[in-house]
Amino acid sequence: MPGTGVFAEIIEGDVYKYYSDGEWKRSSSGKSVAIVNPTTRKTQYKVQACTQEEVNKTIEIAKFAQKSWAKTPLWKRAELLHKAAAILKEHKAPIAECLVKEIAKPAKDAVTEVVRSGDLVSYCAEEGVRILGEGKFLMSDSFPGNERTKYCLTSKIPLGVVLAIPPFNYPVNLAVSKIAPALIAGNSLVLKPPTQGAVSCLHMVHCFHLAGFPKGLISCVTGKGSEIGDFLTMHPGVNCISFTGGDTGVAISKKAGMIPLQMELGGKDACIVLEDADLDLVAANIVKGGFSYSGQRCTAVKVVLVMEAVADTLVEKVKAKVAKLTVGAPEDDCDITPVVSESSANYIEGLVMDAKQKGATFCQEYKRDGNLIWPLLLDNVRSDMRIAWEEPFGPVLPVIRITSVEEGIHHCNASNFGLQGCVFTRDINKAMLISDAMETGTVQINSAPARGPDHFPFQGLKDSGIGSQGITNSINMMTKIKSTVVNLPTPSYTMG
Ligand code: G3H
Repeated sequence: MPGTGVFAEIIEGDVYKYYSDGEWKRSSSGKSVAIVNPTTRKTQYKVQACTQEEVNKTIEIAKFAQKSWAKTPLWKRAELLHKAAAILKEHKAPIAECLVKEIAKPAKDAVTEVVRSGDLVSYCAEEGVRILGEGKFLMSDSFPGNERTKYCLTSKIPLGVVLAIPPFNYPVNLAVSKIAPALIAGNSLVLKPPTQGAVSCLHMVHCFHLAGFPKGLISCVTGKGSEIGDFLTMHPGVNCISFTGGDTGVAISKKAGMIPLQMELGGKDACIVLEDADLDLVAANIVKGGFSYSGQRCTAVKVVLVMEAVADTLVEKVKAKVAKLTVGAPEDDCDITPVVSESSANYIEGLVMDAKQKGATFCQEYKRDGNLIWPLLLDNVRSDMRIAWEEPFGPVLPVIRITSVEEGIHHCNASNFGLQGCVFTRDINKAMLISDAMETGTVQINSAPARGPDHFPFQGLKDSGIGSQGITNSINMMTKIKSTVVNLPTPSYTMG
């Protein structure tokens, strides 16, 4: 159970503590932030409402702790990360329970998220040992006008304090995807969890605490965005921000100082279906890609662009699969569970009503109970409908019928997002040409979009983000290059 056993020290009364300087603390504000269970719509947990002063102190400590951490041998950093990964996996049950209660993640998916996170941390430790253990050696005589009088040695050094802000939909996994690269690279880490998902994050952070990381190296401050959000992202002590979420990322990128940013801000992933596609495979991927975790994934299939000739058959196949999706409570491991908040549900409903008014074909009846929205496939969607462009982040999927591949590519590229996309065809040559033409960070051929496996590069073009993630890219992004140049008094050439 959350907050019990080894996790007992992270809660006092009914309020979870925040983590700073290697200790679990109560905020001096005396205030808390309520976390509403999306299923019951009642307060499930409470977390500390930290003050700006507490944020200042935490960052100051993180700065200090980073100095000695940077001097800790790489293999020792890796060893601690492996330990944290094992502890995290050992405690998957209570952490998964938090995910079920805070963000209504289906029970099995919640466990998968924690296990995947442990694997990510371990992989990151191994990858860090490999890539940070190598540098470059350059010689001056390859550049015109130079003799071999200069040897340049480069290595990757940490940035300092990394601020990690994960989203509600993967609070644990998208937190560790920032924490582990930061730590292996010799940085310290301050985590600001999303409100929904904060308690899952606090449990995960406690696993790092139990692993024995030095005091202050990792901390987790909770609270209201309005009080500590801008304060954190504009803090002069922060040397790098890794953010996953929505529009807030655009505001952060405008306000942040001259520091490296890694941002993933959502997508409107298109699924282009050609006449020669295996329609059973397409239907299975559309349902999995569009409806898993009720569509609340940035990489969800968010618009199907299908050639008119096969549209009727495909829609029928998808409808048949949608009919089999179970709808209900995350505790029962239903496929479709309540969306994260009432305002999300209202937003989704707004898109559905707009499509209705403009004449989309409803393949199922629109049904909602509180935050629970039944899966809905909208056929014959046109580009004047909001759902053609906006990201519902819910179980509603539009189908646009196209008469040429170019039309599909054009729709995909007209989006302000450019995260991922997918194309289904048996013709690999066509698939490659379409992939090259799609303005997205990744194109999947014959599969739905997905971030994983977690060591693959993951990036968005346009409003979908800045920089590239994935384990290797994140480690590199959280370092900078340091060169030392040895200047010789006379040219020296290595002889055989
Ligand atoms: O929601 C954004 C996530 O990065 C998507 O990850 O493709 O593993 O579901 P996923």
